Amino acid sequence: MEKVKVLFVCLGNICRSPMAEGLLLAKIEAQGINDLFVVDSAGTADYHVGALPDERMRNTARENGIELISRARQIKIDDLYYYDHILAMDGSNQRNIYALTNDDFTAKIELMRIYDPENPRSDVPDPYYGGREGFNEVFNILDKSVSSFLKKIREIKNI
Ligand code: 4NP
Repeated sequence: MEKVKVLFVCLGNICRSPMAEGLLLAKIEAQGINDLFVVDSAGTADYHVGALPDERMRNTARENGIELISRARQIKIDDLYYYDHILAMDGSNQRNIYALTNDDFTAKIELMRIYDPENPRSDVPDPYYGGREGFNEVFNILDKSVSSFLKKIREIKNI
């Protein structure tokens, strides 16, 4: 079977999207289906290219048993062709992805939080300028949203 390719996207690729990437990797590993997926994350901006995730996000992840080891990179047009599912953390990220090209990729670019089973809405809030509580909130939103996204993929793909 062809692998399911998933890309998470936020602004800086150091808080929300690496956390979503780490959560999906942990879940597919736990479910024994990691060889069926390609998972990555990227930022629409280039501010932090090459950096590890923000220390506050790494601490929150570690408290929940997940090590975030990805390095920030900026999204590129090729990503839009390569990945099957591109999940934007907020509406601004989604608009910035659309703006990369005139080709129509709307069918595969979705808002992450539409998968939030408790509180579906447009945005996973940006925690960067806030306090510690914001990072816990991002973790909790992404934990349940990534689970429900994965459940949907398993149903659609029959895996
Ligand atoms: P992220 O958070 O998009 O979730 O990685 C941010 C990281 C950096 C900045 C803004 C948001 N920044 O302005 O540098």
